[in-house]
Amino acid sequence: MERIGVLTGGGDSPGINAAIRAVVRRAYEEGIETVGFHDGWLGLLENRGELLGLENVSGILHIGGTMLGTSRTNPFKSQDGPAKVKENYDGHGLGALIAIGGDDTLRVAHRLKDYGLKLVGIPQTIDNDINGTDYSIGFDSAITVVTEALDRLHTTGYSHHRILLLEVMGRDAGWIALLGGLAGGADAILIPEKRFNLGDIHRRIERRIEMGKRFSIIVVAEGAIPEELDDQVARKTETDEFGHVRMGGIGHYIADRLGKLTELTIRVTTLAYLQRGGTPSPFDRILATRFGVKAVELALSGRFDVMTGLRGTEVAPVPLEEALGEPKPVPEGLIELANLFY
Ligand code: F6P
Repeated sequence: MERIGVLTGGGDSPGINAAIRAVVRRAYEEGIETVGFHDGWLGLLENRGELLGLENVSGILHIGGTMLGTSRTNPFKSQDGPAKVKENYDGHGLGALIAIGGDDTLRVAHRLKDYGLKLVGIPQTIDNDINGTDYSIGFDSAITVVTEALDRLHTTGYSHHRILLLEVMGRDAGWIALLGGLAGGADAILIPEKRFNLGDIHRRIERRIEMGKRFSIIVVAEGAIPEELDDQVARKTETDEFGHVRMGGIGHYIADRLGKLTELTIRVTTLAYLQRGGTPSPFDRILATRFGVKAVELALSGRFDVMTGLRGTEVAPVPLEEALGEPKPVPEGLIELANLFY
């Protein structure tokens, strides 16, 4: 193998650059050149790739986002997309392509196998909803931001005797809300895995008032659904190339409804892109470095159509087929653990 490609697709996460750096370094050690494609699958479609030398990836370990840029482009949605992708892959003389992304990016990688591409995936999404890996790159950094946000909300919440709602990301799975909420001591955590009842939340707030706590902190995942609604609350109904609507608004929905039940003032904070941007945590830097190195080693040993997965403390190959079922839900045990505290 003389050359490998690398691209980053979907929503970005802190830690991607650390993975790109690790790919380039490990490949370099074997005398293999790395071609980086810009803006995810779009860069491969439009043949926008550049050679990445050690100098290009030096000094990026601690920088969030992705030096290659990203997009939510689905090559299967454009005319002759897969054929163009294959032509450009061959044109660069690639022996393998490493795709760093969430379920959409990895699903495209899996499908491109049928067009003769040799692919290895690296899971990255702050949502942590990819099966087959305990952690995806970016999740630890995101819950660090959520925890800090909750610490800050606590001090202003108790001073003003308010209900403070924090809306976090998590379209289909409540990992960010649940683990961020646990770490930040939230009084209620609402996640897509379990429909919630506004009356129950109100009762919880009342119980806290009886205990002398005149404030409450609620964390809600953007995809959480109250019992009274049929579907998630979305900001926009048109879909992207992967069929996703733009989420957002459940925090304000809850504030409107709860406001009719309680005397306490309610304020909403939407964490949005603050939880996706910024510096990767030490855990994410190390995970991304391990994933990047392993992805190259998998390609060298001819293991394709797999992604790197963290299983316990080991990094192992996970067949993409296995990783790309339904989004990985928060396990019942963790939900019960969180229930103990509210
Ligand atoms: O990266 C996944 C995710 O964080 C989802 O939780 C969220 O709904 C989505 O990204 C929003 O991303 P964008 O607005 O960039 O499409």
